Amino acid sequence: MSEQTIALVTGANKGIGYEIAVGLGALGWSVGVGAREEERREAAVEKLRAAGVDAFGVPLDVTDDASVAAAAGLIEERAGRLDVLVNNAGVTGGMPQEPTRVDPATVRTAVETNVIGVIRVTNAMLPLLRRSAAPRIVNMSSSVGSLARQSTSTDELGTGPISAAYAPSKTFLNAVTVQYARELRDTNILINAGCPGFCATDLNGFRGVRTPEQGAAIAIRLATLPDDGPTGGFFEDAGVVPW
Ligand SMILES: NC(=O)c1ccc[n+]([C@@H]2O[C@H](COP(=O)([O-])OP(=O)(O)OC[C@H]3O[C@@H](n4cnc5c(N)ncnc54)[C@H](OP(=O)(O)O)[C@@H]3O)[C@@H](O)[C@H]2O)c1
Repeated sequence: MSEQTIALVTGANKGIGYEIAVGLGALGWSVGVGAREEERREAAVEKLRAAGVDAFGVPLDVTDDASVAAAAGLIEERAGRLDVLVNNAGVTGGMPQEPTRVDPATVRTAVETNVIGVIRVTNAMLPLLRRSAAPRIVNMSSSVGSLARQSTSTDELGTGPISAAYAPSKTFLNAVTVQYARELRDTNILINAGCPGFCATDLNGFRGVRTPEQGAAIAIRLATLPDDGPTGGFFEDAGVVPW
């Protein structure tokens, strides 16, 4: 098996995920570019390779059991193990999201990708992660999932718009992250949630105030935690995010 660290980033064809791939590639790691659409995936892989990243394409739709199983098979065949999984793929679910007028399908879409997708991918990759000497799982969450901030802050830049889909899906993801950390407590796997801050990407019509590269920094930090690093936590650049 290769000594090179092997990472998989879901939703790595654009936005923050792409910049996470850039950052992990700069460490000399081999980076799987998880993306559901072939043309976008191959374009990202090519661009990453041109930038010197040892990137490879991983066809991956996080909402599809067969696609996720095939992605695990591809990594198994290529590397025999996985060291770092960054669950970055995410969607808003659509608009409107105010609780009083949200379409239940909008909630279902957000949860299917942002929560169930993470569980599906994590569980498919766990056998490969267990073969690593220092497995790390990073769940890209958002501080809009912080109930503490939602219930105390009036700054919409921090809370995001009123939402019954996207923000609660990140609260759900945080809760699931804690449960994984509990179950994996006696292993060497560290699993944490990270918030990139409000970054200009497709997700928000490029209204964010940070760059995707700045947003990627917290994921890279959590992907490179030392063995005695935290697990089951929620972090942004400035430190711990309150639940
Ligand atoms: N931007 C922000 O301000 C912000 C703040 C807090 C948290 N986040 C989180 O950061 C993560 C990245 O968001 P972003 O801002 O970079 O958004 P983005 O530019 O819209 O990128 C989202 C990525 O997820 C992929 N994706 C969506 N559904 C997928 C599926 N079913 N299977 C595989 N890939 C899928 C997209 O692929 P396609 O190109 O195929 O659609 C795209 O690559 C998300 O989890 C988001 O919730 C973002």
